[in-house]
Amino acid sequence: MPMFKKTTLALALAGATLAATAHAEEVEVLHWWTSGGEARAANVLKELMEAEGYGWQDFAVAGGGGETAMTVLKSRAMSGNPPSAAQIKGPEIQEWGELGLLGNLDDVAGAEGWDELLPEVVANIMRYDGQYVAVPANVHRVNWLWANPEVLDAAGVEMPTTLDELFVAGEAIREAGFVPLAHGGQAWQDATVFESVLLGGQGSEFYQAALVDLDPEALGGDQMIESLEDFKRLRELMDEGMPGRDWNIATAMVIEGAAGMQLMGDWAKGEFTAAGLTAGEDYLCAAAPGTEDAFTFNIDSLAMFRVTDDGEREAQQALARLVLEPTFQEAFNLAKGSIPARPDLEMSEFDSCAQQSLADFQRTAEEGGLVPSMAHGMAVRADVQGAIFDVVTNYFNSADMTAEEAAERMVSAAQAASF
Ligand code: BGC
Repeated sequence: MPMFKKTTLALALAGATLAATAHAEEVEVLHWWTSGGEARAANVLKELMEAEGYGWQDFAVAGGGGETAMTVLKSRAMSGNPPSAAQIKGPEIQEWGELGLLGNLDDVAGAEGWDELLPEVVANIMRYDGQYVAVPANVHRVNWLWANPEVLDAAGVEMPTTLDELFVAGEAIREAGFVPLAHGGQAWQDATVFESVLLGGQGSEFYQAALVDLDPEALGGDQMIESLEDFKRLRELMDEGMPGRDWNIATAMVIEGAAGMQLMGDWAKGEFTAAGLTAGEDYLCAAAPGTEDAFTFNIDSLAMFRVTDDGEREAQQALARLVLEPTFQEAFNLAKGSIPARPDLEMSEFDSCAQQSLADFQRTAEEGGLVPSMAHGMAVRADVQGAIFDVVTNYFNSADMTAEEAAERMVSAAQAASF
């Protein structure tokens, strides 16, 4: 099903011309950066806007992965009252662009030289119909494994580099009395782990065919079945408290030494940083097992809504400019755990995980292996993503659904959702 039903589309379009809630020279910004590390990062932007004399209305909607935020955004847009800016990512930017709801950022992009500043893969996502409508804040890497070195030591294991090693290390960690893998049982977290396991077991070409190109043979074939089995097996390494647990609570289990590891994107690093910990010493990062030659990217971006108030439009332009300026890119990304969206910045302040992320981003962009994250809305449209989430999470939590059956459902999920 498309993002909006046709009958409601006209309503949304009509509503778009009404004034938004933000007042002159003020922006209202919707995002879901509410964990400790995320809130520190969001605050960087608020402070920079305020330092330039603009007002900031914070429209934070809690919920990792942003599903709730997107639901709230849709209802605000439907009532003709969108915020000035919203965290909208990947192909969803195109969906909002098609509705005619997004504002044009070409003036600020031209003045600031965005075409030269941004890697093509990033710039393309920010444009709708050839015009800039969104600005990138960062590049997150999703395929990471985080670990507490003291727990690994206590269990006598090293950071696992393959899925087999992950299972072996996990068993040793459990025997040493810890939760091997911290996880929160929410659909988006299940999908985050699933895509890393699929990538680690089957490689980036298969990932691309299945989760980006939605090739039915890949979605329903043996490699998918194997990935689903690997994924389900990970339950053995998780604890009974996982249902509904937020991702940052799972990260806290690693920080506190209750759990050994977590498979999560590098917003988790924002939590380690907020806790005052040092990468490579107090916590470890490595590419998710089996994925060292791949990089699942997840680019946070702020899309601007079309507004009628000149003051609000001016504030939007300032917001867009500030997001790509070095001051924001450095401070925000140091707090957020990601790397800057523009590759020309001095990186000496960044830790070893961020340095590795940048090097791997560039290497995989050149040699292959750079793939968009399905779980984080970079690969397929929202309806397809939602249908895949349903299959992944139902399978993961079902006592009797086989991997073969789940693979068949993957094929129909992609077909039913496409239009
Ligand atoms: C977003 C991140 C955010 C994470 C957890 C991801 O989809 O891109 O910015 O930190 O979800 O909420």
